[in-house]
Amino acid sequence: MLEAIRNAKLGDDVFREDPTVNRLEKMAAQKMGKESALLVTSGTQGNLVSILTHTKRGDEVILEADSHTYNFETGGLSAIGGILAKPTRGRMGVLDPRDVEKAISPKGIHYAETTLVCIENTHNLAGGIVVSPHQIEAIWKVAKKHGLMVHMDGARIFNAAIALNVDAKDLTRHVDSVMFCLSKGLSCPIGSIVAGSQEFIEKARKWRKMLGGGMRQAGIVAAPGIIALEKMVDRLRDDHRNARVLAEKLAKTEGISVNLETVQTNIVIFDVSDLGVTSAEFVQKLSEHGVKSLPREETTIRMVTHRGIEREDIEYTMEAIDKVVNSIRKH
Ligand SMILES: Cc1ncc(COP(=O)(O)O)c(C=O)c1O
Repeated sequence: MLEAIRNAKLGDDVFREDPTVNRLEKMAAQKMGKESALLVTSGTQGNLVSILTHTKRGDEVILEADSHTYNFETGGLSAIGGILAKPTRGRMGVLDPRDVEKAISPKGIHYAETTLVCIENTHNLAGGIVVSPHQIEAIWKVAKKHGLMVHMDGARIFNAAIALNVDAKDLTRHVDSVMFCLSKGLSCPIGSIVAGSQEFIEKARKWRKMLGGGMRQAGIVAAPGIIALEKMVDRLRDDHRNARVLAEKLAKTEGISVNLETVQTNIVIFDVSDLGVTSAEFVQKLSEHGVKSLPREETTIRMVTHRGIEREDIEYTMEAIDKVVNSIRKH
């Protein structure tokens, strides 16, 4: 990737003159089965640009209650877009089309107009859960029956595609727009992509500019993105295998519980409540062994496997976890 950055042909992307950006956007659109695509700085910017493009001030957007956009994107849709979020509880992060239908506000003078549904795939907080083409189509059908647009926060869409053994296009066929990240599992230092129709991307480009995402020689961001799409997708399988090994070992550790049903991709969430410690305390102790993890809720911890984490690292992590568990038990 560094070599690709060094050799990238550059131009001014605000004037659409950066050949490397243009090439990445074309590749990304093809991979997503959409007419057009746009390079954005981050997943957060990509989701916001997409939501702003689909809606107008005062509209309402249906989002899964634990979705990243609702919980962790600083409320950008309401702060910047004047949009009302309608958080709707899914099952393990997946919205039930019947609940989507119920969440649509009636037409009438008292109500915000519901115009968009967002689907997160894979679902981060639920533990990297995949949403299948069938589930997406069912949500799409309800949305279209009521004239709503559908956006997918596909930050980890390729993880979903690999886990389901389908093409990414099978996951985007029934959405109007999709955002995916070049960073995270695809290993780029920066960048995300928004894809959709030509008309959608034209409008999105202007929102991106307004949000400060119009970059000049952005080919230095796009060059590793091309490598990501060419070389980093298939290896996500290794991350999934490593996550599974880790989760199964964790499940056998006394004091730790894992819902193995949720371990479908590269995220493992486990609970340490039986050890009588908080997640923050556990994470701190583990970090003393050089293992990084993230406290989620009071007693749950999130671990992610990615490029550079090999099977030996999983073994090392398990040894470190055993040491931490034993030291907690002793006290
Ligand atoms: C599902 C999901 N969507 C969006 C984002 C936001 O991406 P970024 O951190 O690039 O803004 C994340 C980040 O973790 C995510 O997990």
